[in-house]
Amino acid sequence: MSSYIIKGGNKLEGTVKISGAKNSALPVIAATILNAGKTTLYNVPNIKDTQMMYEILKILGAKIEKKNNKVIIDTSKIDRFEIPDELMHKMRSSVILAGAMIGKYHKATFTYPGGCDIGSRPIDLHLKAFEKLGIKITQNYGEIYCTCEKIIGEKIDLDFPSVGATENTILASVLQEGTTTITNAAQEPEIEDLANFLNKMGAKIKGAGTNKIEIEGVKKLKEISYNIMPDRIETGTFLCLAGATGGNIELQNVNPIHVTPVIAKLEEAGCYIEKEKNKIKIQAPKKLKAIDIKTMPYPGFPTDMQSVFGAMLTTAKGTSMIVENIFENRYKYTQDLNKMGAKITIEGKTAVIRGVRKLYGATVKASDLRGGAALVVAGIMAKGITVVENIDYILRGYENFEKKLREIGANIETSKAL
Ligand code: EPZ
Repeated sequence: MSSYIIKGGNKLEGTVKISGAKNSALPVIAATILNAGKTTLYNVPNIKDTQMMYEILKILGAKIEKKNNKVIIDTSKIDRFEIPDELMHKMRSSVILAGAMIGKYHKATFTYPGGCDIGSRPIDLHLKAFEKLGIKITQNYGEIYCTCEKIIGEKIDLDFPSVGATENTILASVLQEGTTTITNAAQEPEIEDLANFLNKMGAKIKGAGTNKIEIEGVKKLKEISYNIMPDRIETGTFLCLAGATGGNIELQNVNPIHVTPVIAKLEEAGCYIEKEKNKIKIQAPKKLKAIDIKTMPYPGFPTDMQSVFGAMLTTAKGTSMIVENIFENRYKYTQDLNKMGAKITIEGKTAVIRGVRKLYGATVKASDLRGGAALVVAGIMAKGITVVENIDYILRGYENFEKKLREIGANIETSKAL
């Protein structure tokens, strides 16, 4: 895999255009299965994860036409209903295709996505919701076979507000007979974007973005075009890059409401932030103040911002505390930060970050998407040269990352794996 070579110490200043949201594009791409026709999507990020979804859809029989951030997906000729095992493991979020395939064709075969570097990633809540909807599930050596005569509307209460389980339940219920109500539903903005997309196709979904969602089944869905919402995690990442370097950045094509908890924490750390309709300007102080963070389901502080904040706070004045309440193994990046001179100790779900004067360049290794982004932030902050290896993890979720960073003054280049 390739690496980033970063010469740190630059203050980041200038303007960044934020891309479409990875975590909205993936379920929306899966949802195109439901109308068995053509769908045109705009503002789709050109990243490894969307590329992977196109590969899987093509294996199932769909046609994909892509030009930059516009993609036309034709699902009218889908004739296979099995998600390839190796692709399931490469991208766990492909389990979202199951809900759409069962919703449309009443059948789907897939395997357990398996654990990854941030946790075990179970899908028990997805399967429990499918069974409640009348879907018959049999398992054989890790293969999961889902079939049903029809899908009957039900009341589904999620043990945990799982984003994926909420999305899969919606996708399986859109064409059902009757009405499904999901309580303790995830409230993330990406759920709202998925519901807006489906309702534009002709679905009848109410309450997306709250903890109670009602899906009234419909018979048919139209061919439409749709614009994917801005990526709130990329937005937060670039806000932290300003925070981490005493920088001054303007972010365009954003939705400030989606990053309310992130902005609140950056202001608490001493940043000055101005919000306009689809712009955010951030001016960071030379030295941040230490802060405490607890990750929670939306509208709480997002777990996907935990590692980037962890990197940014390594040189803050004082000691910061982070509690990671969502995933059980999301602190791997801190070992690499300590190699760069940070002083982070992990006690269970809590990371204690004692502010140090400076980080120093080192060779570090990305092991997951957001942990990798944290190492890039640290490399840009550090004195000297940092090599971030295994950047394919980062390319899964950040479009044109190196180009955007260089345009605001980062000294970064990619070295191809030999
Ligand atoms: C989505 O993952 C996002 N991915 C993740 O972003 C994000 O971190 C996560 O939601 C939380 O916000 C996509 O949208 C593609 P969950 P998902 O189901 O759906 C447990 C990134 O970096 N759980 O809300 O997998 C699970 O183990 C990625 O962009 C069960 O126990 O998240 C975890 O502890 C990383 N059983 C917690 O719930 C289940 O059946 C949250 O998982 C499902 C989940």
